[in-house]
Amino acid sequence: MYPEDSSVEGGVLTIGGCDSRALAREFGTPAYVVAEADLRARARGFIRALAERHGGPGEVVFASKAFPCTAVLRVFAEEGLGCDVASGGELHLALRAGFTPERLYLHGNAKSEAELAMALEAGVGTIVLDNEGEADRLAALDGGPRLLARVVPGVDADTHEHILTGQAGSKFGMAPDVARALAARVDLAGLHMHIGSQLRSLDPYRRAIAALAAVGDFEVYDLGGGLGVPYVDGDDVVAADDWVAGMVAAAHAELGEGKSLVLEPGRALVATAGVTLYTVESVKPGLAGETIVAVDGGMSDNLRPMLYGAAYSAALAGRMDGGGSVSTVVGKHCESGDVLVRDVALPDPRPGDVLVTPVTGAYGHAMASNYNGVPRPPVIFCSGGDARVVVRRETYEDLHGRDV
Ligand code: LLP
Repeated sequence: MYPEDSSVEGGVLTIGGCDSRALAREFGTPAYVVAEADLRARARGFIRALAERHGGPGEVVFASKAFPCTAVLRVFAEEGLGCDVASGGELHLALRAGFTPERLYLHGNAKSEAELAMALEAGVGTIVLDNEGEADRLAALDGGPRLLARVVPGVDADTHEHILTGQAGSKFGMAPDVARALAARVDLAGLHMHIGSQLRSLDPYRRAIAALAAVGDFEVYDLGGGLGVPYVDGDDVVAADDWVAGMVAAAHAELGEGKSLVLEPGRALVATAGVTLYTVESVKPGLAGETIVAVDGGMSDNLRPMLYGAAYSAALAGRMDGGGSVSTVVGKHCESGDVLVRDVALPDPRPGDVLVTPVTGAYGHAMASNYNGVPRPPVIFCSGGDARVVVRRETYEDLHGRDV
């Protein structure tokens, strides 16, 4: 669950060769700490797996919403990934990070006129049409990117309903028959699907790919992302290699072997690379006999437990050997729901301890807020024993920096 480039020595967690307690001292907490080597290894893994399994053209594209940070995007641009952007802001970041525009995919179910114009002007390679009207708006703008149509394949999958997107009733994309009609009047290079996120099985993908096959014969198939990652011990997920193999096998069987295949993982590229460091501020007994451990962050830096009931684990960065009494790790926000981790054994936690929650690289920084006037944490890259700040911590001044 901890990043590839991490270890525990004498009970102390080291990330990218950096002592995590020293990181907390130097950069303060909360802090998102990222093992750069883990990002690179995952990117290479996906690229290698796609090349090995699929003889034809295709590419792996990072869904930038999972960690929309220039430094992360720059690493993935260097590693040869493409990039999925779902707004003008994400497009701006991707261009700034150095992606060649042809490798960008513009998504979104409510693209504005300005976002479409921005994409055309930048020379974005692929626009994924969410609806028919968008095709007409684009035609009016006289643009030339490759077009894919996002199809809702009508499959359900086993994940939290807030992150399920391929089922009937989804707000994304168009029905298969609408895509078929669109293809009759617009030059569509291919189809796109994205059926949900944090998925733990290949079955719904197979059903969805079969549904795409029924729409018609195209050159390009973008099969989306959604591969789940293990957040806590015992979380059963599909390994990245197996996911790629399964996606490619289903595509070959249903769509043919010569197609251009695009895979669009977000979470699986970044989740495990990142951990969050906090400082324990208070420890007290709860009424049910549990120990309540309050840290200096919470729902402002990790909204996922509150939004999706997502489970995380926690440990003390200086006493990683575990054991101890059952604790509930809570944040500092004025809400009862601000609980980061439930039922975790922590060895005698004390104020001042550095507490770490692993697997926070995906959708943590991305969905952070300033709730309760808490400045958003920095992002620290660690590699080869060196730590560098790639996003600075917000200041109190930043909190009123937009006042006019
Ligand atoms: N492609 C498209 C078109 C997407 O909408 C998404 C995610 C992805 C790819 C990447 O999905 P991933 O591989 O990361 O599962 N905030 C939620 C996740 C929302 C995902 C939205 N779309 C969370 O924290 O679980």
